[in-house]
Amino acid sequence: MTSVVPARSSAELIDAEEPVLAHNYHPLPVVVARAEGAWVEDVEGRRYLDMLAGYSALNFGHRHPALIEAAHRQLDRLTLTSRAFHNDRLAEFAERLAALTGLDMVLPMNTGAEAVESGIKVARKWAYDVKGVPADRATIVVAADNFHGRTTTIVGFSTDEVARAGFGPFTPGFRVVPYNDLEALEAAVDETTAAVLIEPIQGEAGVVVPDDGYLAGVRELTRRKGCLFVADEIQSGLGRTGRTLAVEHESVVPDVVLLGKALGGGIVPVSAVVARREVLRVLHPGEHGSTFGGNPLAAAVGTAVVELLETGEFQRRAAELGVVLREGLAALVGRGVVGFRSRGLWAGVDVDPALGTGREVSERLMREGLLVKDTHGSTIRLAPPLTITADELRGALRTVEKVLGRRD
Ligand SMILES: Cc1ncc(COP(=O)(O)O)c(C=O)c1O
Repeated sequence: MTSVVPARSSAELIDAEEPVLAHNYHPLPVVVARAEGAWVEDVEGRRYLDMLAGYSALNFGHRHPALIEAAHRQLDRLTLTSRAFHNDRLAEFAERLAALTGLDMVLPMNTGAEAVESGIKVARKWAYDVKGVPADRATIVVAADNFHGRTTTIVGFSTDEVARAGFGPFTPGFRVVPYNDLEALEAAVDETTAAVLIEPIQGEAGVVVPDDGYLAGVRELTRRKGCLFVADEIQSGLGRTGRTLAVEHESVVPDVVLLGKALGGGIVPVSAVVARREVLRVLHPGEHGSTFGGNPLAAAVGTAVVELLETGEFQRRAAELGVVLREGLAALVGRGVVGFRSRGLWAGVDVDPALGTGREVSERLMREGLLVKDTHGSTIRLAPPLTITADELRGALRTVEKVLGRRD
C-alpha cells in the first residue's frame, strides 16, 4: 500500500463532516483512505486491522483481486440496463446463487433492507395467492431483539426503541416473540401467518447464537403449520459462520433466504431474495421491482462472489480460524471478558463494564490499531475478513488482551 498525500488531515475531515452530514452515525474517529485485505490505512498512513469488515460486507477482505478484476472487466463493457431489458450477466448470477444456496429462484435487489422488504412482500403475496389467507389479514412472526434494517416497515417491528421512536405510524401485521423460544413461536403462528422471519444468529443483538435445535425446530414448526421460514442471512450468510449459510449448522433449508452485504464483495450493493420456485413464482410483472436490482455490474461482482464461495475455501477458513478466535476469547474470560458468543469468525464479546462501555473499549482498541464496533452496552463485535491469517488473528487477540488488561 502506498500512502496518499492528504489534502486535509483526519481531524479536519471529521470536523468538516459535522455541519454537512446527517448525524445518524457516531463513527470511531478514524478516517480511512485506503485498504487492502484485512488492513486499512488512514489519511496519515496509520494502519489498522479491520476486525469489523463492514458488518460482514467485506467477508473477502478489502479489494479482493478476483472481485476487483470482475468489476473492472464489467465496467469496461456494460454497467446498467434496468430490468426493462435483459442483460447478459444476470442469468448466470441467478443460476449459480440458487445452486449455492440449494434453492431455485432469485429476486435481485440492492441493499439488505430492500431484500427484507422484498421478502416480506413475497411472503404476504404467497399467503394470499397460495395459502388462501383473506385479503390484508396476513401476519409475519418476528423475534425480539431483531435487526433487519432501517425502513419504516422494518423498524416498526424492531424492539429497539432508539431505532423505532419517532418514526411511526408503522406497518401492521407483525407479531413479536422472544428469540430462541419455540413454544412462544408455536403460540404466535396461526392460520393468518405468512412467514416466520428470523436471523439464524442475531448479529446486531450481540451475535446471539440460538440453542442447538432451534433452527431445525423453526423449520419443523413452519412446515407443520403451513407457513414460510424466511431466514435473514444478510449478516450471518456467505461464509461468516464457517458454512455458506448459518442455517446449514442445523442442516436446515428455509423456504426463503435473504442475502446482502458480502454478496456485493465490498464493491457494490447487491442483495437478493432466494427462494423455492413455488414461493417466488407469486410475483408477476409490475408487482415488484428495482431500477438497479440485477444490474450487470452487480451481477458480475455477485457471480465472482459466488465463485469464491463455490471453492469452499472461505467457509473452511472461517471454521478453522473460528476455533482460534473462540479459544483466544475463552482464555480472556475472567480477564476483562465476562462472556462471549461466537460461531466461525464472528463473535460478540461482553466486556467487564468496569472497563468501560463498548464504545470506550472500541476507541482504546482503535488507538492500538484494531478496528471493532460496539453493539449494546459493553458488548463489542468481532467479525474480521475471512481472509485474515491465523497470525493476524492471534495478534488481534493479544491487542484485546492488552487493552482489557489495563485501565486508562
Ligand atoms: C441481519 C440483517 N438484516 C438486514 C440488514 C440491513 O442491511 P442494509 O444495511 O444493507 O440495508 C442488516 C444490516 O446490518 C442485517 O445485519
